[in-house]
Amino acid sequence: MGELTNFYNPTAVAIVGASKKPGKVGNSIVKNMIESGYPGKIYPVNPKDSEIEGLKAYPSVTAIPGPVELAVLSVPAAKVVEAARECGEKGIPYLVVITAGFKEIGKEGLDLEKELVATCRRYGMRMLGPNCVGMADTHTPINASFTRNSPLKGDIAFLSQSGATLIAILDWSRSVGLGFSKMVSLGNKGDLSEIEFIAEAAADPYTRVIACYLEDVADGARFLDVVREATRKKPVIILKSGTSQAGAQAASSHTGALAGSDLAYDTAFRQCGVIRARSLTELFELAIAFSRCPVPAGKRVAIVTNSGGPGIVATDNVEARGLTMARFTRETIDELRAGLPAEAALYNPVDVLGDGKADRYRFAMEKVLADPNVDSMVVLMCPTAVAQPVETTRAVVELQKQYPGKPILGGYLGGESMAEAVQLMAEAGIPCFTFPEPAIAAISGLVNYGQFREMPGDGNELSYPDVDKRAVKAIFYDVIRDNRLVLLGSEAAAVARAYGISAAPVSLATTPDEAVEEAQKMGYPVVLKVASPKILHKTDVGGVKVGLDSPEAVRRAFVEIMENVNLLLPEAVVYGIEVQKMMPKGTELIIGMTRDVQFGPMIACGLGGIYVNLLKDVSFRLARGLTRREIENMLAETKAYTLLRGYRGEKPADLPALVDAIGRTARLVLDFPEINEIDINPVFAYNQGLSALDIKITIS
Ligand code: ACO
Repeated sequence: MGELTNFYNPTAVAIVGASKKPGKVGNSIVKNMIESGYPGKIYPVNPKDSEIEGLKAYPSVTAIPGPVELAVLSVPAAKVVEAARECGEKGIPYLVVITAGFKEIGKEGLDLEKELVATCRRYGMRMLGPNCVGMADTHTPINASFTRNSPLKGDIAFLSQSGATLIAILDWSRSVGLGFSKMVSLGNKGDLSEIEFIAEAAADPYTRVIACYLEDVADGARFLDVVREATRKKPVIILKSGTSQAGAQAASSHTGALAGSDLAYDTAFRQCGVIRARSLTELFELAIAFSRCPVPAGKRVAIVTNSGGPGIVATDNVEARGLTMARFTRETIDELRAGLPAEAALYNPVDVLGDGKADRYRFAMEKVLADPNVDSMVVLMCPTAVAQPVETTRAVVELQKQYPGKPILGGYLGGESMAEAVQLMAEAGIPCFTFPEPAIAAISGLVNYGQFREMPGDGNELSYPDVDKRAVKAIFYDVIRDNRLVLLGSEAAAVARAYGISAAPVSLATTPDEAVEEAQKMGYPVVLKVASPKILHKTDVGGVKVGLDSPEAVRRAFVEIMENVNLLLPEAVVYGIEVQKMMPKGTELIIGMTRDVQFGPMIACGLGGIYVNLLKDVSFRLARGLTRREIENMLAETKAYTLLRGYRGEKPADLPALVDAIGRTARLVLDFPEINEIDINPVFAYNQGLSALDIKITIS
């Protein structure tokens, strides 16, 4: 039972803008409500008519005698706010606003929507829409929408930001016998959004899987918190169309350029256990699989087929999807050899040959399912003249009952000759596709979700009580007073140090003598780097000199850098030259941060140095809610990880120190939303500890 239980199951519903006239939206909503079998009271509201579709109609909601729990508004946009206000006066807690003409039409509509939302807030009403088709719940049952027909009963909750997609899916679903627990057209998401509906569906006993079509996410931070919880209970599959605005932001850092436009959604979905579908087809293939199959114990897939080609396609897909082909036990192989013709392929995929009839299929499937090395099975069948699709399917259905813990999926190739068998599979609740690929994709979704659920919910966000926020604030204050948004290297290093990130000693010198003095203090050798907020890529302008091991070398380098910069970037303001202690070489890494408009800061880490953009060996996580395990996984995803673990006799890097530095970077950017971007490149990872060499921080 969630916050929206009564929204889906109200005691009485008012339809404001109900109409007698067939073909009008207000008429179809009344009809849908009646035809859905809704058990509560239905009150049509219309200023002129006293009876609509056999129901008594009322001139206004306030004239309705009893309490009303949900009002569906289908009056023109100009009348919606007033109608909502009346609903508020009547004490109605939930609204569905069908009407279009709000923020989707521009400024005027946006203002009207704000007024509508403010009206809802004033009366404590929750609203679906505006600009939506409505909602249906097959278990109440209720259909408060203007869809052409009602959904069949089922256990998939479908939330759609596109009304047209919802209508189309509903129509298609009836033709294939697919049922839904709920269908919600999210519309403009003026108040209620996918977040509330996902939370509700996760708590709903009639929903087994949550499928969403989304164009954006209303509130990234809340989405992460709520959906992370929901996915622990039920699979959430999302098709997200369009691209996030992260890519549109001018990315001056390596991290920003690497992040790209869609990465924040990918990262957010993965971090909170959402299964991402790449097409509408895949969304429903996965939804069907989750609605009908158990989550398999592992990723070992067996394939039983009557033809080689589809078996090979399936095998390729198994590998491409990160699944494995099951290796049968010796006993299984011996039994298959004894019972199948000599030409049959005994090893996975098992080929019962083109003349394989139902008994041969049954025999092979029985042996395969009994094998302890098999977690799931795909049955492929093509309609040879002698194949027995229906009889074979009967065997599949029986075996599914015997092995309820092992998902069985069909890939029935063909059409006409397979129709009856496909129908039998549907009736038995066994997902069956026309080709092998979706069956494998569905198993991959099931396996990934199973792995996610098994991962212990290491939900403790990292905390660092020793960080010095005040020091960072003071540095930012000085930078802003200096009319800058880019920190100098010495300032950035001080910020890092305040957050416990080990930064190589660095200080600013304005004359060659000062540079020598600083170098003497730190000890030779040193590196000199031009200090200018306008010069982000210093090496490119001859602004870096390394390996300076004497006062003379430092003096000479100082002058040369100044000359180079004057020549190549005469207009750049130069604050001086930074003297940095030359650190011993370590594994070169990058730690960075770029901000996404929806999901906030994203932390990156991977192979660093000058080739970061070329090699793109970087993995990302959202800073919000980042845990130690996530950071470890993040490192393990990179190729750099092989180096960090000690490549070709090298000593392994200090992984705990790296995890600590990444966690502290995440803490820093969460504490300071004014930090726009960070690149720490390179970070030298050592056998013991690490050193952040070049730190770039931009603020806003
Ligand atoms: N209270 C009660 N009834 C009222 C009120 C009121 N305050 N004011 C008017 N009405 C009645 C009208 O008299 C009319 O009844 P009638 O048919 O008996 O005359 C009824 O409400 C509807 O009013 P109309 O002025 O006839 O409006 P119409 O039905 O043409 O349009 C609608 C209303 C459908 C809400 C329209 O404004 C609209 O928004 N259409 C687009 C809907 C849409 O596309 N939504 C998004 C879906 S997503 C997708 O893309 C598929």
